[in-house]
Amino acid sequence: MRATSQASSHGIRTVVVPAAGMGTRFLPATKTVPKELLPVIDTPGIELIAAEAAQAGAQRLAIITAPEKQEIMRHFGNFDELCATLAERGKTTQVEKVQRATNLIEAVSVVQEKPLGLGHAVGCAEAALDDDEDVVAVMLPDDLVLPNGAMEKMAQVRDELGGSVLCAYNVTPEEVFNYGVFDVEEIDGHFDGFSVKRVRGMVEKPAQEEAPSTLVAVGRYLLDRAVFDALRRITPGKGGELQLTDAIELMIQEGHPVHVVVHEGKRHDLGNPAGYIPANVDFGLHDKTYGPALYTAIKAIISEYEAENPQL
Ligand code: UTP
Repeated sequence: MRATSQASSHGIRTVVVPAAGMGTRFLPATKTVPKELLPVIDTPGIELIAAEAAQAGAQRLAIITAPEKQEIMRHFGNFDELCATLAERGKTTQVEKVQRATNLIEAVSVVQEKPLGLGHAVGCAEAALDDDEDVVAVMLPDDLVLPNGAMEKMAQVRDELGGSVLCAYNVTPEEVFNYGVFDVEEIDGHFDGFSVKRVRGMVEKPAQEEAPSTLVAVGRYLLDRAVFDALRRITPGKGGELQLTDAIELMIQEGHPVHVVVHEGKRHDLGNPAGYIPANVDFGLHDKTYGPALYTAIKAIISEYEAENPQL
């Protein structure tokens, strides 16, 4: 895939979507169902990401898949027989639901033979980018950053300040140990309606007392193509995996400018049940079909729970 095609106005043409992880926090479901296909209400996380990428002007998803996770690519395939049967039965809304993923964006597969870490997964995408694509856009399919639009803000910052741009989210001090944490400083000048900071360094999953801030990386990255070279030079870090954070930290140390857009909206971490369940409750409550009944059901569940746990 080395042809040149047209980019969106801010240059995001291909979005790399790493989806080759083991999904251990979702076992036993992920024995047979890839984590990225688990639904938020009725739509797999990876389709929500495809919609966000298309909205940001991308034309192609380079999905990093494991050899045993090819169902993810099937989700972006054609289902002609199913659509014909649904159409015969007058189920036009369902036909649209089946065809949506395919119509959103072109999806190509890049196989990561072994789950050697997020950094390794991103490195696998190098050959999937066109030669003249100078930005490596990465979106994690288990991370919902809402409302959509973070990538467009990040692209605006990259246009003005160059280098690489990441997305930061403020968490509580107790939560930092789960994330890549930013060491940041203020910059001169400002962007309309959102906060941008310069990144001095990054630490992967630090203990609370060693965290440089409470601003953590969420799964949206606009990286300079130099990241591929940095990824070749890092060694396995936390968990024995090649960490994307370590490659970014190396680039910063070598003088590469990195900024963050601080996301002020919502964020759902679909990567573990503790984040996945609230995401479903949130989307469910806002769903016009399921919302009203779900609201009543959740209130009843909470009342019952509170009665069982009077100490709360
Ligand atoms: P996660 O760490 O959230 O996913 O990686 P995981 O490794 O599948 O989950 P656990 O920790 O075992 O529960 C973030 C994203 O990066 C992908 C994952 O599929 C996920 O979408 N990833 C991770 C890869 O593509 N390859 C890897 O080697 C690791």
